[in-house]
Amino acid sequence: MAKARRDYTLGMGAGHSGSEPRWYLDELAHAGPEHLDPTYVADYDRKAQVDPTAELAYLRGLGLGENSSLVDLGAGTGTLALAAAQVCRRVVAVDISPPMLAALRRAAEQLRLSNLECVHAGFLSYVHQGDPADFVYSRHALHQLPDFWKAVALRRIAAMLRPSGILRLRDLFLSCELDEVDAVVEAWLKGAAEHPNQGWTRPELETHLREEYSTFTWLFELMLQRAGFDIQDATYSDSRIYATYTCIRQGS
Ligand SMILES: C[S@@+](CC[C@H](N)C(=O)[O-])C[C@H]1O[C@@H](n2cnc3c(N)ncnc32)[C@H](O)[C@@H]1O
Repeated sequence: MAKARRDYTLGMGAGHSGSEPRWYLDELAHAGPEHLDPTYVADYDRKAQVDPTAELAYLRGLGLGENSSLVDLGAGTGTLALAAAQVCRRVVAVDISPPMLAALRRAAEQLRLSNLECVHAGFLSYVHQGDPADFVYSRHALHQLPDFWKAVALRRIAAMLRPSGILRLRDLFLSCELDEVDAVVEAWLKGAAEHPNQGWTRPELETHLREEYSTFTWLFELMLQRAGFDIQDATYSDSRIYATYTCIRQGS
């Protein structure tokens, strides 16, 4: 099993595995306090309403199958990881939040999945072990890192993938020009959920914008290329708030 810090109450800097440099970002401190709150986590699936069917079919179309391995970074309660484990050889679900991982472990036990490993670590501290991964997946988690650290994380992801391995990534990446930011964001906020258990409310989205690290597609795409990826597909949401990427690790 991958090397990772198992007890987040240990005296070392919160969020650090102990092996990364002292100047590395404290991932736990940047995890988003709600993700560390067991009450929020218990209600997460109802709030997020993630259906993995289309993503799984897409990944299968890219070759995900019984011989494949997939690492899900920032897996949360594991909706995609649990679905992927039913069709592929090895799934490693990585998350910095102990309550998220506990929920994921319970679900994996209920489904009697023996090929799914849960690892307590982050983008900057997960150490992949075993054969290089065929796929890395991440959804709505990388925005917890500032851009400098996003780039470092992308390079680490490239290193855990085999050559021509696939990174599938969705997050909040604004596909607009700087002069359009106010209008794009205000339109997005207008569509926020009325109640927290129906989705993300306006105050929650505002907190995200203030305290987390959404970035621009035109910045992020440079980071992907610089980290050693070819972008095979980039899909921008109509709201211009979200983007989904399929990237191939360079090299042979
Ligand atoms: C909004 S949830 C998304 C969960 C899941 N991927 C999904 O699509 O439902 C963000 C997840 O990222 C995790 N997270 C935050 N910072 C992280 C980091 N530095 N490394 C790994 N996971 C992180 C949180 O604990 C949380 O589970």
